[in-house]
Amino acid sequence: MQEKIIILDFGSQTTQLIGRRVRELNMYCEIVPYNKFPHDDPSVIGVILSGSPFSVYDEKAFKADLEPIACRLPMLGICYGAQYIAYVSGGKVEPAASREYGRAHLTTIDQADPLMKGIEPGAQVWMSHGDTITAVPDNFRIVASTDKVKVAAYRIEGMRTWGVQFHPEVFHSECGTQILRNFVVDICGGKQDWSAASFIESTVASLKEQLGDDKVVLGLSGGVDSSVAAVLLNKAIGKNLTCIFVDHGMLRKNEFADVLRDYQGLGLNVIGVDASEKFFSELAGVTEPERKRKIIGKGFIDVFDAEASKLADVKWLAQGTIYPDCIESLSITGTTIKSHHNVGGLPEKMHLKLCEPLRLLFKDEVRAVGRELGMPEHLIKRHPFPGPGLAVRILGDITPEKVRTLQEADHIFIQGLRDHGLYDQVWQAGVILLPVQSVGVMGDERTYERAVALRAVTSTDAMTADWAHLPYEFLAKVSTDIINKVKGVNRVCYDISSKPPSTIEWE
Ligand code: XMP
Repeated sequence: MQEKIIILDFGSQTTQLIGRRVRELNMYCEIVPYNKFPHDDPSVIGVILSGSPFSVYDEKAFKADLEPIACRLPMLGICYGAQYIAYVSGGKVEPAASREYGRAHLTTIDQADPLMKGIEPGAQVWMSHGDTITAVPDNFRIVASTDKVKVAAYRIEGMRTWGVQFHPEVFHSECGTQILRNFVVDICGGKQDWSAASFIESTVASLKEQLGDDKVVLGLSGGVDSSVAAVLLNKAIGKNLTCIFVDHGMLRKNEFADVLRDYQGLGLNVIGVDASEKFFSELAGVTEPERKRKIIGKGFIDVFDAEASKLADVKWLAQGTIYPDCIESLSITGTTIKSHHNVGGLPEKMHLKLCEPLRLLFKDEVRAVGRELGMPEHLIKRHPFPGPGLAVRILGDITPEKVRTLQEADHIFIQGLRDHGLYDQVWQAGVILLPVQSVGVMGDERTYERAVALRAVTSTDAMTADWAHLPYEFLAKVSTDIINKVKGVNRVCYDISSKPPSTIEWE
């Protein structure tokens, strides 16, 4: 039985980060909504409570009955989690005199406390809270303080419950990993047996059992997730797996041929389908972004379904769904900014059973599994690319000529990033073809041609992103190359917006 830590999600932006940090300790964990603790699961060895956008005394604050959990299992509250435990135990939580945000240093530490083992005075932590715990019940022992925050960390005497008001999961909490390790390994007794190799071994065994001699079909996109899923399945069931790679015409320059070659090199049984004409004709004249997404999503399903129907006896549809796609998100605002679900209706339409071998993994773990499976680094480190491809990077209507123009400009930018050793430093990059023309001068000629925008961002999860501070000299070279080499473009801009309030893609 795979032992696990449960992370109760009270809606914090850093909940997933807690999960990733615990996994980095080779400890398996799952994130569940604050009110869905799996009481009957015997494999749970400890519980972490996340932060929250609420104050504990807000009417709408998320509340959970912690007592049955705390008397059975070790528990660690982080930020709101810590405040909530203190509050329901009879302590006092109040708005801080000034919002405590950013770096702080632990001045007093009880090093005999198991959570604080090995943490030295002066250790840096990251605070981010508007409220603070101002009084704790008698059975609470303060185990760390900062200059400003007396109850930076506490333990409930006689119980295995701790709380920290800072965020050990964020990078700037330098002692955060040690604190999480103290909790997960020393306090909960975690065996740290979760690794890419152990995941592959157990997943291949369970896929063999689950699928037997059944035939499986999988849609490849060129991205990391579907590629790793395919290689893993190939290891488990070999030729019973058929992969389908659809070219909707909105891929990058040469991508269809390059990726197909890569896949064949990996020994995958893969069928490439060039359906670009169908997509171009269905997209003709369409300018509205969500409509473009819907047309491509539906077209993809139709092409995939037609191709898969030619195969005999397929029983399963495999997908590269990963853990962040599966975590039940707490909808606090309930708004959809962009629909990213490219092929939502596929399993229903095809009447196939769904197989998602990566559904337990975070993105960095998918990459680690890919490496362990011996996949080439350029496939593993590929930037994310949206399912609808260049269609959402051509503002306005789409024509084959515009796609060709964008492919050329994009190729110069991406190849430039690679040549200058910058590709791995950015999360994602691409070029956007703008629906404007502007005046330029080339030789003695006046030109009136298109403008493009370069977009490159740094990020860890695409939820937030900063524009990449690429060197001016590099941007200058890319701009010159694009204007000189790409017919129809006479102006290049660099997008310096971060997310939020902008998004990574323009549409
Ligand atoms: P935004 O633009 O929302 O993008 O900041 C966040 C991440 O999602 C990708 N993206 C998509 N991926 N289908 C996809 O598969 C889509 O329709 C889609 N729209 C955006 C985007 O490239 C970035 O990595």
